[in-house]
Order: sequence, then C-alpha cells, then structure tokens
Amino acid sequence: MVTHNSDLPASPTATYAHIVGWGMAVPETVLTNQELEAIVETNDEWIRTRTGIHERRIAGERESTASLGLKAARKALQISNLLPTDIDLIIVATSTPENIFPSTASLIQHWLGATKAGAFDLSAACSGFVYGVDMASQAIRSGSIQVAVVIGAETMSRVMDWQDRGTCILFGDGAGAVVLKASPIQGGVLSSVLRSDGSGGDLLGIPTVGSADLRNPDFAVNGHKMHKMFMNGGEVFKFATRVIGESIDQALDKADLNIQDVALIVPHQANQRIIQAAARSLKVEPDLFMSNLDRYGNTSAASIPIALCEAVQQGRIKPDDHVAFVGFGGGLTWASMVIKWTGNKVVESSGPGFLTPQRRQFSYLLARWRADLRRISRQISQFVNNLRPGRSRIQRLQDKLDRLD
Ligand code: UT7
Repeated sequence: MVTHNSDLPASPTATYAHIVGWGMAVPETVLTNQELEAIVETNDEWIRTRTGIHERRIAGERESTASLGLKAARKALQISNLLPTDIDLIIVATSTPENIFPSTASLIQHWLGATKAGAFDLSAACSGFVYGVDMASQAIRSGSIQVAVVIGAETMSRVMDWQDRGTCILFGDGAGAVVLKASPIQGGVLSSVLRSDGSGGDLLGIPTVGSADLRNPDFAVNGHKMHKMFMNGGEVFKFATRVIGESIDQALDKADLNIQDVALIVPHQANQRIIQAAARSLKVEPDLFMSNLDRYGNTSAASIPIALCEAVQQGRIKPDDHVAFVGFGGGLTWASMVIKWTGNKVVESSGPGFLTPQRRQFSYLLARWRADLRRISRQISQFVNNLRPGRSRIQRLQDKLDRLD
C-alpha cells in the first residue's frame, strides 16, 4: 500500500499523475566521430561544431529496442518501489519497433511479468515520449488507471542509411523509462501541448510496409530507401528552432507559470545549435537546457527520458522544481509538457519497496518463468490437440494458469 508524505498538499477530490520512477539503458558499444570517418565522408571537427555530438551508442547483436526498453523499465520500477504486477498500462514510444505487431510494449509487458497491464506502441517519432507521458497522465487523472510505465526506446542504428552522412552521424541507440503513479498530492504533470503538421511528412521519415508495393526489393518512396531513415536536415532545423520556444510558452501558459519558474528544460537531444537557438528565442541561458547529446547523439524517442535520468543523477532536478520537456521530429510532430517534480517523494518506503534487490530480482524471474510456462503450455496444448481431438489435461493446465492472472 502506497501512502503519501504529510508535508505535501493533498487534494480531497483531484488525482494527479506523478513521475515516481525513472531509468535508462544504453548499449556498451561506443561509436566515435573518428570511427565514423572510416564509414562516410565526414570528420570529427564538422560533427562537433555543427551538432555538438562526440559519440553515440550502438546496439549489439543481442540487443534490441525491447531489451533496452526492458532494462530501463526495470530500473524505473525499482526506484518507484512498485512491482510489475502493479502496472496498469505500458506505452512504448518508438520509431524502431521490434515488429509492426506484436508491439514492443507487449514484449516488454511479457518479459516484465506485468500480467495486469495493457500495452501498446506509440508512433510520434522524437516527440513520442512526451505524447506517451501525456496519454498515461490523462488516463491516471481520469481515474481509469493507477500506474503506467512510459518508455522511449530506439535502435536507430538499424534504420540508418550508413552511406548518408546527413543522417548517420546524428543518431544513436538507447532507452529511457518513467513510472507514473496516481496520487491526491498536487503536482506531477501540470500541462501539455501536443501538435502535428503532416504537411512536413516529407521532411523526415522511414518508409515501411504500408508504403507501397513491397514485391520490388528496390522500391523507394519518393526516392527514399525502404526501412531507412531520410531527412531534410536544414528544413527540420528551421522547424525545430521555431516550435520549441513557442510550445514551451504554450505549456507554461496552461500551467499558469512563466519561464522564470522553470528549473530545467529537458529537450529532445538533436543538435546543440538547436538548443542554443531555442534558448535565444526564450531569452534564457543555454544551461537552462539539459544536454547530453555529446555522448549519445540523437536517440529519437529515448532522448528525453535518458536526459531526464542523467539530470536527476546530476542533482539538476530537485523536489518541487518545475521541469519542462519538449520534443520535436517526424510527422512533423512536436510536444511540450510542464511537470512539478516530486520524484518518489510521494511513494512511502512501506510498500513493496521493502523488497531487497535480490528479492525484486527473484520476483522478476518468477514472473518471467510463469509467462514462459504459459507460452510452453500453450505450444504443448496445440501439439497435443493436433494429435487427438477433445479436451486434454494440458488444456486444463493452460486454463488453470490463465485463471491465476
Ligand atoms: O530528431 C529529429 C530532428 N532532427 C533534427 O533536429 C536535425 C536537424 N538538422 C540538423 O541538425 C542539421 O541540419 C544537420 C546537422 C543535419 C546538418 O547541419 P547543417 O548545418 O544544416 O549542414 P548542411 O546540411 O547545410 O550542410 C553544410 C555543408 C554542406 O556542404 P557544402 O554544400 O556547403 O559544400 C554539406 O554537404 O556540410 C556538408 N555536410 C557534411 N560535411 C561533413 C553535410 N553533412 C556532413 C557531414 N560531414 N556529416
């Protein structure tokens, strides 16, 4: 049972959605600018001065969008003191899902053992994480759910055209996650602004299965390669610098705050020059913006939660601070959000947080075994049913397992 600290104002009627857990996961493999010089015609100096990026992480053979997302979600759950079975909803914002379906969110739900959760993927490119937090917080505030996990996870290296120096130098892989929880304490997600302008859909994207006739392997949409990312960098740059300040102002207006009330802005990590231009347009110092793109590049939907985790680790966000998120990218889409950071201050340590790391690990394993057992029993059941018609013992075992949920 989760209770609340008495020094925080509680509302008798309203429900608020607080971020009570956060976690990130990046692959170990580092790809430096110097190493990129051997792949495309570029150089370290150009990349540093034009983008601010020094290196990025690249997923290994056994890593994927879901495996990175799972790691980030587990860390976020641990901080929140909640268990996978407490989760009502999992949203994965990604442009590099494991499959068209099943969703990456469903895979993570299964691996986590979140047996009571709904799960779906959300496609809003680099704005996806902010869209996801907004969707989850609305569901919490309406009373429809209590706990949600929102993950931004990407393996951008798999959709890069490694001959296109205009894109492949920018992107990297990684994942970040937050746990949102209902609470009567005022704060958490205060406001958000979600926008789209589909007329700019030709400026960046990744053509995939629904695009056109896939029987031709050389098929390209408007000259763009199938399953590879394309971008008109200059136009996206102009769009980004225009919308960041504008949408942060709109989200602040909605929350009845102004820019002086903001302790930190956590922007999508695309280009240091975009951050500098946004700071100029908001008339604030660039260090009001969190920036870690020098080490990770642009990790699309994962960049905001990764930067958020590092900001918390570095002590740049403290309880009661107002923090703004701003995402922008393919769609075109953009989104801003203002939160009042409570951290896990609203979670008391008398809940499942009493679990030691070993017991927590064991509970994950147990959930995973149960889920695997369900899959195996389903497969055996299908096999036996194929051999002999009628209701088998295996089928009854399957029914029992289903009833356990
Ligand atoms: O997450 C989605 C959102 N995406 C973004 O926000 C990306 C926004 N766009 C950008 O960050 C920048 O537009 C880029 C970093 C992609 C490009 O920077 P730029 O300052 O707009 O460069 P540019 O495309 O105007 O190119 C300038 C010059 C060109 O050479 P010339 O024509 O002046 O001789 C390019 O061919 O730089 C050249 N160039 C490069 N040189 C070395 C372009 N890419 C590279 C490269 N290495 N990788």
